[in-house]
Amino acid sequence: MASFGKVAALLLLLLSFCGASMGNFWTDVDITWGGSRAAITNNGQQLQLSMDRTSGSGFQSKNEYLFGRFDMKIKLVPGNSAGTVTAYYLSSQGPTHDEIDMEFLGNETGQPYTLHTNVYTQGKGNREQQFRLWFDPTADFHTYTILWNPRLVMFYVDGTLIRMFRNHESAGVAYPSRQAMRMYSSLWDAEDWATQGGRVKTDWSKAPFVATFGDIAINGCVWKGSASSCGASSSSWMNQAAASSDLQKMQWVQRNYMIYNYCKDVNRFPQGLPAECSLA
Ligand SMILES: *[C@@H]1O[C@H](CO)[C@@H](O)[C@H](O)[C@H]1NC(C)=O
Repeated sequence: MASFGKVAALLLLLLSFCGASMGNFWTDVDITWGGSRAAITNNGQQLQLSMDRTSGSGFQSKNEYLFGRFDMKIKLVPGNSAGTVTAYYLSSQGPTHDEIDMEFLGNETGQPYTLHTNVYTQGKGNREQQFRLWFDPTADFHTYTILWNPRLVMFYVDGTLIRMFRNHESAGVAYPSRQAMRMYSSLWDAEDWATQGGRVKTDWSKAPFVATFGDIAINGCVWKGSASSCGASSSSWMNQAAASSDLQKMQWVQRNYMIYNYCKDVNRFPQGLPAECSLA
């Protein structure tokens, strides 16, 4: 019967992927800054952000969401991308905002990108984890996913779980569960700190820098000011827990590709590591 269970689980998984609706940049997002540096192409299937000395560029989802699954393909700035940051994140507004971040810190030609992640709850972050990728993120599109439901936040790269933030509200750790968030993306200049601690600056002779986004798929509970409507696909991600196969992959990634973990940084937290670090 175990194999029947596996087949059923696989079918469910396939169904949940089919149920996830593919979006369109024209209908799902607004370009919010950078003017013509941001452009929707291919009938809404792709979006390009570029950055020159004058400005970067960015876009945001038209809707706000209270929980959802956000899939995006990104092909990062190739060549010498030192100083550039390509950001992909969810955020609510205000001083006590919640935020779930993926940021790609560029590097000199041939040197690896850093994937920087963070989780803010009620205005407080300081939960950085950084990773190397196991592929060249500039050679092709790869899928970056944020899954956010009442139980946990999961970060995926090409379907591989790399990080999880569980709901430990019962242990007094704030969780993003009350503030609707928008999805944002931007390409901006952070030469003061992004690359090798700010030692390597942006080489403006290589501008414009371009990152390309594709296959946007937002499946979330759209927030309507006081209530949200979740749509047919929601059951798959709304109830998703961490499967043991996901956790095994996460262990593999964290063992081999994690380069910074706030939960291991005892010098930074002399009063003791954040509570969630010692909770399963
Ligand atoms: C850039 O490459 C250097 C050398 O390989 C590495 O130490 C650094 O972490 C890389 N990433 C960033 C964002 O500086």
